[in-house]
Amino acid sequence: MTEKHTTQTNLLYLEDAYLQQTTANIVEVILDNKVRPDGSHSASLILDQTLFYPQGGGQPADQGTVEGPNGTFEVTHVSYNGGSVLHKGTLRGNLKAGDTVTLNLDWNRRYQHMQWHTLGHIVDQAVKNTVKDATSIDGNHGIGKKLSITFTTKISADQKQQIQQEVEKIIAQNVSTTTEMVTKDEMIKRGVKLPFDLPSNKPLRLLQIGKFPPMPDGGTHLRQTNEAWPVQVSDIQQDGENSLVYYTVENPESTKKSKGNKVSVADGQKAPLFISLTALRRQSTDIRAELSLDQSPVEELTTKYLGKKGKFNELAKEIRNVSPEDRKEAGQILNELKTALEQHIQKLKDSQNTTVPWTDLTAPGQPPKLGHMHPVSQAMEEVTRIFERIGFTRVRYPEVDWDHYVFEALNMPPDHPARDEWETFFIEAPIDQKFGKVVLTTHTSNGQVREMERLNSTPPIRMINIARCYRRQQDATHTQMFHQFEGLVVDKGITIQHLKGTLDYFAQEFYGPGTKSRIRPFHFQFTEPSFEVDFSCHICHGTGEVEQKDGKGEVQKTKCKFCKSGWHEVGGAGMVHPNVLKAGGIDPEEYTGFAFGWGVERTYTLKPGLNIDDIRLFYSGEMRFLEQF
Ligand code: DAH
Repeated sequence: MTEKHTTQTNLLYLEDAYLQQTTANIVEVILDNKVRPDGSHSASLILDQTLFYPQGGGQPADQGTVEGPNGTFEVTHVSYNGGSVLHKGTLRGNLKAGDTVTLNLDWNRRYQHMQWHTLGHIVDQAVKNTVKDATSIDGNHGIGKKLSITFTTKISADQKQQIQQEVEKIIAQNVSTTTEMVTKDEMIKRGVKLPFDLPSNKPLRLLQIGKFPPMPDGGTHLRQTNEAWPVQVSDIQQDGENSLVYYTVENPESTKKSKGNKVSVADGQKAPLFISLTALRRQSTDIRAELSLDQSPVEELTTKYLGKKGKFNELAKEIRNVSPEDRKEAGQILNELKTALEQHIQKLKDSQNTTVPWTDLTAPGQPPKLGHMHPVSQAMEEVTRIFERIGFTRVRYPEVDWDHYVFEALNMPPDHPARDEWETFFIEAPIDQKFGKVVLTTHTSNGQVREMERLNSTPPIRMINIARCYRRQQDATHTQMFHQFEGLVVDKGITIQHLKGTLDYFAQEFYGPGTKSRIRPFHFQFTEPSFEVDFSCHICHGTGEVEQKDGKGEVQKTKCKFCKSGWHEVGGAGMVHPNVLKAGGIDPEEYTGFAFGWGVERTYTLKPGLNIDDIRLFYSGEMRFLEQF
């Protein structure tokens, strides 16, 4: 009935003889149409993979159960046919192709088969070690009652004792069994004895016990001979040309309980539990999978998985059931599992911490990063405050102004050569009959006559005009746009002393106590007399020299590198020219005045502590420079 089934069942027991439970998918369910009185069916199952051993090679079939979503199948016999494994047994409920099912192996029965089969090989080897050229052709490892190995060589019953000793010697060596999948050609190449013909179209399993010659074998075996139950070479009988060596295997557990009775096939005593690395790995994966789906609160998870009686510790106990040579790897598997569980739980804890952050409402707030005014604006503010304190009023006048206010009213009629000093930008605009061309203010002096007019030509005037100015010039000490501040004082009886006192006051306020001012004769069209204004250097205090100790510790005087002369020139000043007062409608016979004016940027860079040698930096937009002020 089974020849038509061509499915290749994946044989899990070949890889791991200690696998006791796994899942598989049903490929086919074959019912035999007979429904028993209790509603169960006798049926056959084909699965995509199996851990049930199909009878063969002298080893009996496994038994166990297959559990599906809607039914259970009791496996009573397993056979191998045309590539697929047929599980025969009794079906209760309903199972159908495609169902995912759980396979449970009757482990006690299987473990006993593993004992019988492995010990059969050991007896076989013991005979070969004892009897020269002994050749075996068959073995019965539990199918029927008596365990035996058949030899084509004559083995005398007298050798029983010797063989027994050899069996014990092999077991005592605690050798391990290993398997590998190879082709028939490879087996022949390696000189493996083939007791019967083998297929050459698929990989075959080669079993090796210790260092003894390997042999083809598809059965299930103990990993180590230290797992072996007590074995007895019980009898040697002749069967025609052949000799049969019989052996018995006792389950020590059941022997204790049944007081020395031999173990029979039907013996159901519990075999000691052994766990393979594969099984350990699988269980470890299962625990991880379980945790990843577990919705319990984190505190519960910790107890459940990592607690004293948690899932991890439960599995960790199994390490004593792992063979000594596998213990190291088993330890690694357990370590990895523990780390994975801890990390998973920690991640959950962390994620919960971030979803419900704890906020300390009493903690001081984070101050926003404050910006500040541009250094030139700061300087203008400071200049304003200094002059305000002595009664000056800050005023603002246009930075795009008539030629009249910028030049003509300041005693510089059109075409006057003095105008060349101011490299002027002209605006393309109609020329006004009275005020002339439109220009960008070249200095803040344009504010002088405007202020006189604003006050209806009625002194006293104390103005400070700070504004942007423009000239066609650009180098380290000049920018095309810059700032100036202009002072103008007009009243009765104003003299040069007032001017000098005002300059000294500003010098000390702006540059610090001890700073002096100096006026030197000069020429401007709008003042008479005119001066250039200097302030004493704060490095050398007006001396032009600094004292420095040389290599011998002696004091040497050297030229001040900052000012080179003891003084810094900052701008111009003078007594207001009578023509300017007239232009502002003020009678120069009645009133006199002084004026001064110079650049904000230059004035500022001379401040103590600043060392700015290129005023273009102020307008570079370079934050690393500007943030310093
Ligand atoms: N306006 C002149 C300049 O830009 C500076 C100046 C000199 C202003 C003398 C004055 C002054 O008020 O009296 O160079």
